[in-house]
Amino acid sequence: MSIAIYPGSFDPITNGHVDIIRSGLVAFDKIIVGVLSNPRKIQPLFTEEERMTMIRDLFKDDADRIEVDSFEGLLVDYCKRKNVHVILRGLRAVADFEYELQMANMNRHLNKKIETVFIMANDAFFYVSSSIVKEVATLGGSVEGLVPPAVATRLYDKLGRKAAGR
Ligand code: PNS
Repeated sequence: MSIAIYPGSFDPITNGHVDIIRSGLVAFDKIIVGVLSNPRKIQPLFTEEERMTMIRDLFKDDADRIEVDSFEGLLVDYCKRKNVHVILRGLRAVADFEYELQMANMNRHLNKKIETVFIMANDAFFYVSSSIVKEVATLGGSVEGLVPPAVATRLYDKLGRKAAGR
């Protein structure tokens, strides 16, 4: 069975992530969505549990092929613990390339038996990121179409706003 780990902060999951997971299922039998417990970059808006619950709810009908899990520490060590040799990442705009190349090379340096595989993001989601979505929602803009409706609701709840789509 071919398995890939799709790691990320998922704070929160966007339609871009959803699209990569769906595409990933064309290439792999199973995808393990690895939610990073404590992203170093930023204090996450959603707790680890909230981020995982949102993803689980979205893929509840595909639970046999999509596992949602969390990890701490090095990604390659997590892959080793799960006995998975492929890391799946999505590539959006050119700006992603350097960061992704750096991570893929560092992970290869750390463990030569683990490969990173990229799937090109759908152009509809080329400029969608969790951080931009959070900024737009914070400033009262509409995030419709950028995140799943249930995520939009949670986002506005969290940010103290009444309804999504404003
Ligand atoms: O959603 P993100 O922030 O783009 O995901 C980044 C992630 C989680 C893939 C990356 O930060 C990561 O792998 N963190 C774990 C720590 C690690 O292994 N670092 C060394 C490789 S760069």
